[in-house]
Amino acid sequence: MPKIITLPGDGIGPEVTAAAAQVLREVAPDVTLEEHAIGGGAFEAHGDPFPQRTRDALQDADAVLLGTVGGAHDSPWNRLPRHLRPESGLLALRKALGCYANLRPVRVQPGLEHLSPLKPELARGVDILIVRELLGGIYFDGDRRIEGETAYNTMRYTTPEVERVAKVAFWAAEQRKGRVTSVDKANVLEVSELWRRDVQALRDREHRSIHLNHEYVDSVAMLIVANPSRYDVIVTENLFGDILSDLAAVIPGSLGLMPSASLGDGAGLFEPIHGSAPDIAGRGVANPAAAIQSAAMLLRHSLKRPDAANQVDRAVALALRQHPTRDLGGQADTQTFTRAVLRALETSPAVG
Ligand code: NAD
Ligand code: IPM
Ligand code: MN
Repeated sequence: MPKIITLPGDGIGPEVTAAAAQVLREVAPDVTLEEHAIGGGAFEAHGDPFPQRTRDALQDADAVLLGTVGGAHDSPWNRLPRHLRPESGLLALRKALGCYANLRPVRVQPGLEHLSPLKPELARGVDILIVRELLGGIYFDGDRRIEGETAYNTMRYTTPEVERVAKVAFWAAEQRKGRVTSVDKANVLEVSELWRRDVQALRDREHRSIHLNHEYVDSVAMLIVANPSRYDVIVTENLFGDILSDLAAVIPGSLGLMPSASLGDGAGLFEPIHGSAPDIAGRGVANPAAAIQSAAMLLRHSLKRPDAANQVDRAVALALRQHPTRDLGGQADTQTFTRAVLRALETSPAVG
């Protein structure tokens, strides 16, 4: 019986995770869901944003379904020593799971172009996969400190770190249109020079069927909204991927439509890319689509149940057409939307 750890976290995390868990129970009734603490709430309860009992529970888990962590800008959590802050709990979780490749699909489903603020002809048919390196770069380097009026963070990558995430991007592109854009800042940064060299060398050595090109991150920030259809798979380092994926959320129409799967050494981690949305938390109006779509990615990547994953994706698309949430200009609250997804699941076959 597959075991899934749910980590609802802070803010809207519990609201959207409850919706995703309901959907999982519906399409995979044999799966065990076990809830644990992470983030600011975990710090309050256990003095640690990634408590030992949560870490222990991961040992025999098949996958992890995460909500969101973190507080508002004025939250007292932001004044804690950095290692005790909610976001540090999430980073420690990613590290513990060895999830180095973060897949962030950006898709405009047929019939949902109207949810995008872009012109329909630009939004139509967009299907991009951002592969964000998740365990390296400036996020994780040990050389970081504030000394008086000077602060340091170091961006560092090694060839093995670049190659393992590039492999995932090439593998994904091989199941798609076979095009990979590697995004860097090689005109300025040595790290990017190494990144570009290693991605190209791996392509030339082992993935010759892939069409690989290299673009600068500033230019991609413009082109991804001006002409999103030019991209198939984008592979990039941790910080660039973080920023570009929030930007790309404009294309489908909301951060609430951006799921993710983080894959690597062990159990996969599945989470919406949005944050804890303190401005709407506790009101029952968050869009749970990204969390539900993350559950679909869990079904696909960790449980190897593509039919169930497709069924959930279709149900979400239908619910978005009929009951758009407020972030998309609609009226539906979290429960109304979730009920619409569950209804669509009842009426749509598992295969097809
Ligand atoms: P955010 O993503 O929480 O919110 C940005 C805007 O998008 C807000 O207006 C919010 O209401 C809206 N929004 C986000 N998700 C939504 C949803 N599902 N439905 C409807 N509206 C949605 O970003 P922020 O405000 O910069 O960050 C808030 C907190 O979240 C911070 O503490 C930050 O560190 C944390 N954060 C956590 C994660 C994570 O847990 N993976 C990701 C990003 C930010
Ligand atoms: C994300 C978030 C996290 C990140 C934060 C909360 C640590 O922004 O998942 O995109 O920067 O990776
Ligand atoms: Mn982010």
